[in-house]
Amino acid sequence: MREGQTAVIHRADYQAPAYWIDTVELCFDLDPAKTRVLNRMRIRRNPDVPPQPLKLDGDELNLARVLVNGQGTSFKMEGGRLVLENLPEGSEPFELEIFTTCCPAKNSKLMGLYVSNDSFFTQCEAEGFRRITYFLDRPDVMASYTVLLRADKRKYPVLLSNGNLVDHGDLEDGRHFAKWVDPFRKPCYLFALVAGQLVAREQKIVARNGKEHLLQVFVRPGDLDKTEHAMNSLMASVAWDEARFGLPLDLERFMIVATSDFNMGAMENKGLNIFNTKYVLANQATATDTDFGNIESVVGHEYFHNWTGNRVTCRDWFQLSLKEGLTVFRDQEFSQDLAGEASARAVKRIEDVRVLRTAQFPEDAGPMAHPVRPDQYLEINNFYTVTVYEKGAEVVRMMQTLVGREGFERGMTLYFQRHDGHAVTCDDFAQAIADANTQSPLYEKLGQFKRWYSQAGTPRVRAVPQWEAGTGTWRLQLSQSNPPTPGQADKQPQVIPIAWGLIGQDGRELASGMHVLTEAHDTLVVENLASEPVPSLLRGFSAPVILDFDYSDGQLLALLEHDTDPFNRWEAAQRLAVRSALAAIHHGGEVTLDAHFVEAMRHILRHPTLDSAFKELVLTLPAETYIAEQLDVVDPQHVHAVRESMRQQLATALQPDWEAAYEANKDSGAYSPDPVSSGRRALAGLALTHLCIAARLSSDTVWPGKAYQRFKDASNMTDRFNALSALVVGGSDLARPALQKFHAMFKDEALVLDKWFALQAGAPDRGGNVLPAVKQLMQHPDFNVRNPNRARSLIFSYCSANPGAFHRADAAGYVFWSDRVMELDAINPQVAARLARALDRWRKLAEPMRGAAREAIARVAAKPDLSNDVREVVTRALA
Ligand code: ARG
Ligand code: ZN
Repeated sequence: MREGQTAVIHRADYQAPAYWIDTVELCFDLDPAKTRVLNRMRIRRNPDVPPQPLKLDGDELNLARVLVNGQGTSFKMEGGRLVLENLPEGSEPFELEIFTTCCPAKNSKLMGLYVSNDSFFTQCEAEGFRRITYFLDRPDVMASYTVLLRADKRKYPVLLSNGNLVDHGDLEDGRHFAKWVDPFRKPCYLFALVAGQLVAREQKIVARNGKEHLLQVFVRPGDLDKTEHAMNSLMASVAWDEARFGLPLDLERFMIVATSDFNMGAMENKGLNIFNTKYVLANQATATDTDFGNIESVVGHEYFHNWTGNRVTCRDWFQLSLKEGLTVFRDQEFSQDLAGEASARAVKRIEDVRVLRTAQFPEDAGPMAHPVRPDQYLEINNFYTVTVYEKGAEVVRMMQTLVGREGFERGMTLYFQRHDGHAVTCDDFAQAIADANTQSPLYEKLGQFKRWYSQAGTPRVRAVPQWEAGTGTWRLQLSQSNPPTPGQADKQPQVIPIAWGLIGQDGRELASGMHVLTEAHDTLVVENLASEPVPSLLRGFSAPVILDFDYSDGQLLALLEHDTDPFNRWEAAQRLAVRSALAAIHHGGEVTLDAHFVEAMRHILRHPTLDSAFKELVLTLPAETYIAEQLDVVDPQHVHAVRESMRQQLATALQPDWEAAYEANKDSGAYSPDPVSSGRRALAGLALTHLCIAARLSSDTVWPGKAYQRFKDASNMTDRFNALSALVVGGSDLARPALQKFHAMFKDEALVLDKWFALQAGAPDRGGNVLPAVKQLMQHPDFNVRNPNRARSLIFSYCSANPGAFHRADAAGYVFWSDRVMELDAINPQVAARLARALDRWRKLAEPMRGAAREAIARVAAKPDLSNDVREVVTRALA
């Protein structure tokens, strides 16, 4: 193993720390080129562990001095760690003082302390604190923090850290200081500091118990007019967690700070959440409805971490889903509760399931498949995944399904009674929910249920019906299986809650219930039926599984028309569409959409009472990646062509209906991002796209002209961007001038420019034109590969979100990908490793893509100085 390379870490090797750090006093002299950090800790031996040297983690630090109880001491370095052998014996605490420097200006990894737009920010999760000072950088070491910040007052007027501001004032030479004390013990990954020229929107709120709190959203001076929605979302989050789970805000002050250089979405540092600007800044002129919705859920997510993550944290990083799965579940529930009506809740549920099935299912079937609670990792940052987050949230959701909503709330209360202030495991969480519900199937089957945490892979449930007309008995034979995943050949049956209903010939619901499948084979029996029913299975997507049921087209059409479960209504349309796509792909030829399917789509589009948002979801064809997952061998260009052809047929066959839908939805009134008006804008946008597609086929110029007009006149970003997108997707001649105009209008709005790059990189490929366009955009003065949002908007939009353009037979897409992975790895390994995942599913590709993709991965893997992050991804891909 070379210097800097670490070994694989195993969950089974967990050991309690040999020392505890009780208090930390940090003093920062902030300077971009050389920041000085004085770290004074009170440490004591852990009496439960045999005596051993203290080994402190560190990364890219310059060590100046180490003192134990005020005296110099001997130390050595061991693989980046600072090792202290001659420490005081016995159980008495001692004081360890460490003085280091680091260089925030050169920190392009954006982990630890870094500079963005002349301000200082930190990101410590998972292992960034060791880039600030030597420490026991592991979540089960919880300490009390006092932080003194010193910096130039003119350049850095705002100085923030966790907790409460207890002192501040001026120093000589134009410098000033601020002292912060966090009243709660915390693991170091929740430490944060911010320093810079920032302004805040402020809001005072009074909690249920009458206590006053100050909420602040800090942004750069020009961005204050984009903070209202984030503040509203924060207030709603505080109120929701109190109302739904009885969990209050435990700090006098709660701060959100936005930065435009951030590896992920946001970070829940205690009392000082740091956000990617993408999830804070919004006004109607610059942000779409989707942005508004994402801000609501990410603000909620980070706020909810204050209890699920911060008050109760993870024992070790294998338990990441303890906080992430649970907190995603909580933010999903929050958004559903805010959406209000049942139909709006269902729309949110469909959107969440769509993410799970298009992103998590492929992950679970590919080389990076891992359990919700992984067993090993080389680089923990590679495990902030859709499996840990979204599948983890589904596991929590199943618990709620099995114990009921009230039972789940009882379980949460018990969880906090038992574990508040501690670092615990996924087992502890499941145990608390079960123990609060001893009459539930969760309690009864807890051991088996926990296989959701330990077994990777998406279970398949096969359901075969039997109808006995003579006795009116309907039987459903159920069986489950789970395919092998890397390192897990054999799987045991899991606990699968199946919500079901039966629809009669007349479209009425005959029966419904919940069947908990625990065996490999089982039968569900319903008696006394007058005629053969159509089953609606896995309602609301009650478990994250693949359900195989041989529906006839007629049955699916009946479900689409009559099911009382909106999720399964949508699902019926998806099944019909996937079926058409697969038939066309297997027969190598053109798709001809089934006339009944087209009529059903027309019926939905014309439906007098259905919500626009729901119509938009039903009329949107399944994603190319979702279709590809149903195939053993994938030709992404062919999948793209088939889906395009289906879209064209829907565009042409339903043209008058799209026109009607557009006219009926195009005016959504004064802008507000609520579910009803955003649904109207979404459907108007989808209609306009189809009308532009139809126009291209018939060489009509009227609709592209209307789209251009709407693009120019729109009073909000959603309508403007949807019109621009319709022109691009429809391949109109007006797309070029519209793109130019859009750039000119928003040249100073970084987040809007990200959309501009992403739209072009994600455009439908016409004769291989997207890759050259992407390469050209890399030369654009506004492109900057060092900014993660910008890199994602151009490079990821092409490599990860545009399969029809990326998977070229000439391999040029893959060569481009390997160049970018290697280029980014030298700058920011986390971002590079995410991009490396774009070829996860290479083994499924048809030749010549398969061989070319393997070559490109091997090319990356052969690079000598790869980060652990990228090395882990490409090694697993080739294994
Ligand atoms: N805990 C954060 C969130 O989900 C994510 C931070 C991940 N950061 C990282 N470098 N892996 O809210
Ligand atoms: Zn989170």
